[in-house]
Amino acid sequence: MNTSARDLADNFDIEKLTPEFYANPYPTYRALREHEPVKHLPNGSYFLTRYDDLVGVYKNTKLFSSDKKKEFAPKYGDSMLYEHHTTSLVFNDPPAHTRVRRLIMGALSPRAIAEMEPDLIALVDRLLDGLAGKGDVELIEDFASAIPIQVIGNLLDVPMDEREPLRDWSLAILGALEPVIGPEVFARGNNAVRDFLAYLETLVERRRAKPGNSERDVLTKLIQGEDGGERLTAKELLHNCIFLLNAGHETTTNLIGNGLVALSGNPVEKKRLIDNPTLIKTAIEEFLRYESSNQLGNRITTEEVEIGGVQMLAGTFVTLCIGAANRDPAQFADPEHLDIGRTPNRHLAFATGPHQCAGMALARLEGAIAIARFLARFPGYELNGAPVRGGRVRFRGFLSVPCKV
Ligand code: HEM
Repeated sequence: MNTSARDLADNFDIEKLTPEFYANPYPTYRALREHEPVKHLPNGSYFLTRYDDLVGVYKNTKLFSSDKKKEFAPKYGDSMLYEHHTTSLVFNDPPAHTRVRRLIMGALSPRAIAEMEPDLIALVDRLLDGLAGKGDVELIEDFASAIPIQVIGNLLDVPMDEREPLRDWSLAILGALEPVIGPEVFARGNNAVRDFLAYLETLVERRRAKPGNSERDVLTKLIQGEDGGERLTAKELLHNCIFLLNAGHETTTNLIGNGLVALSGNPVEKKRLIDNPTLIKTAIEEFLRYESSNQLGNRITTEEVEIGGVQMLAGTFVTLCIGAANRDPAQFADPEHLDIGRTPNRHLAFATGPHQCAGMALARLEGAIAIARFLARFPGYELNGAPVRGGRVRFRGFLSVPCKV
């Protein structure tokens, strides 16, 4: 069916997405940007797709709040999921947000991240050895998802033999953030918060009894707080540890998976990167822009505001479409084209403003080491089956990518 751009924009409803949209949302995003950049949805919220509109909202935390209590109360009721999502820093405003962010940024300092590099290289090389031994591999399970889980496991110093459930917990909790969820997704997310909390309580108890090296171990750092200064409450500590794992896991898995799939579909860019490995830094930025692993952000207006000529009342829900803004021709030349050398590339994959991703330096390092070393080892890799999408609108990535190395 050849649907016109006007129809795509008119009929867009975040609560009624089609399989075609999940496979490729970009024609819809383009149609919205061109015809209804401040789209009023049937549920009363607005959906923004222009780069400049997103930047304006992200930077103005006074008019656009991240506090999700009003949004999540009807969605989650009085549940563990509600407690979790409303306690994590990303869904709070100052001053709660500022306190927690300062502690987390202290734990993710450039020095702490630089110190992770040798372990990260060793981990990636071990995984690559495993792939070489198999030949036919599953890129997500065997490679992309294994990296961030181990990195965050190291960050919190979770014992190796206790890491197995982390990935499923994280997928379940983030799955419940999709715009529309059924009872099963809710129950899975809620049970995951319950089990994850129970596990972390024992981990924190053990760490309090035997502190680790606070230069390397974020959990010890968060327990100890700032010298003579801020500390997290017990509840904040547990929920923000869960958030750290969740924030850094699926997003980074998707960066690695999306990057390798995008290259396999763009042989010219793939060869360009293999021939010029120093382009890895700009290539990572381009993968983040071209197939942003986190496609949506949300805010709520605190006062009556105007965006792009549209007036909104206080208390209006606004969705920020990063995936659309990152292909806005007003900001990016030839935006539908993958260009691994693109400069400048001021994409919004990590958002911007006071909530800008606290782990972006780590995500960039993981992405660069994983993709550069994979390409150096397996320059002739090829997909040998259809990749399976995660079927989510917020987190864009693959569940599985069959591949021959
Ligand atoms: C490719 C990988 C990643 C992407 C695309 C990504 C994207 C984002 C985005 C868009 C936000 C802003 C959310 C909002 O305010 O609406 C965010 C926040 C955050 N991210 Fe990431 N992220 C990634 C990896 C990581 C990693 C590896 C960590 C840490 C280990 C991390 C930790 C955080 C934290 C703590 C916040 C909350 C910051 C705040 O509210 O002040 N992220 N991320």
